[in-house]
Amino acid sequence: MLQNCNIVKLHKKSAMTCNIAVLVSGRGSNLQSIIDNIESGYIRNASINVVVSDVHDAYALERARDRAIDAIFINPSEHGSKKDYEKYLIGILEEYSIDLILLAGYMRLLGNSFIRRYKNRIMNIHPSLLPSFKGLDAQKQALEYGVKVSGCTVHFVDEGMDSGPIILQQSVRVLENDTVESLSERILEQEHVIYPEAVKLFVEGKLKVQGRIVLTRNYERPVK
Ligand code: GAR
Repeated sequence: MLQNCNIVKLHKKSAMTCNIAVLVSGRGSNLQSIIDNIESGYIRNASINVVVSDVHDAYALERARDRAIDAIFINPSEHGSKKDYEKYLIGILEEYSIDLILLAGYMRLLGNSFIRRYKNRIMNIHPSLLPSFKGLDAQKQALEYGVKVSGCTVHFVDEGMDSGPIILQQSVRVLENDTVESLSERILEQEHVIYPEAVKLFVEGKLKVQGRIVLTRNYERPVK
């Protein structure tokens, strides 16, 4: 297994691939954007080896199968406890020698031992500028609060909810006539930009975590 997918160093010895698992619960548009960015060559030296869903009819599973990616449904209720469920999940991730786990609309909080097992190797995308509007319905929370700017965040997952070290963020203006749907749609467009960008930085070994600060080795996002 690669250490932190530090492809830059390892790549000199051999062309190693960062093995990615994506955990999903729903439609999977973020999964699709990662797939597309690997296929287009924007993200190099990475492959999605398995997609795991906790919802049996998640459309994300179909998207994966459509690209010949192994797609597995794990029924949480078939496992006695959250710990047992996650032990089973870890077994699958180990089988696929997973280096990086992406949460893409995965609506389940991961337990502490799972997070410790994959420390700084689990990323999540959240539809707000964290630390504002954690948890469910982030876009609705933003609208109801009356913020003028919201956006999206890619972060490493720690033991808290939506509280881990921030990797990338993109702001999105909130318009006076926005509905939850219209704001969500504009934020989603930006999610599809920053999630692949964060994965690319990870795979290229450009991310360094110092406490809760993520350094991107002088990588600056293009200003819009
Ligand atoms: C995305 O908007 C993602 O940011 C959000 O769920 C949606 C999943 O869409 N995630 C969260 O709210 C996590 N707290 P997708 O299935 O089309 O990628």
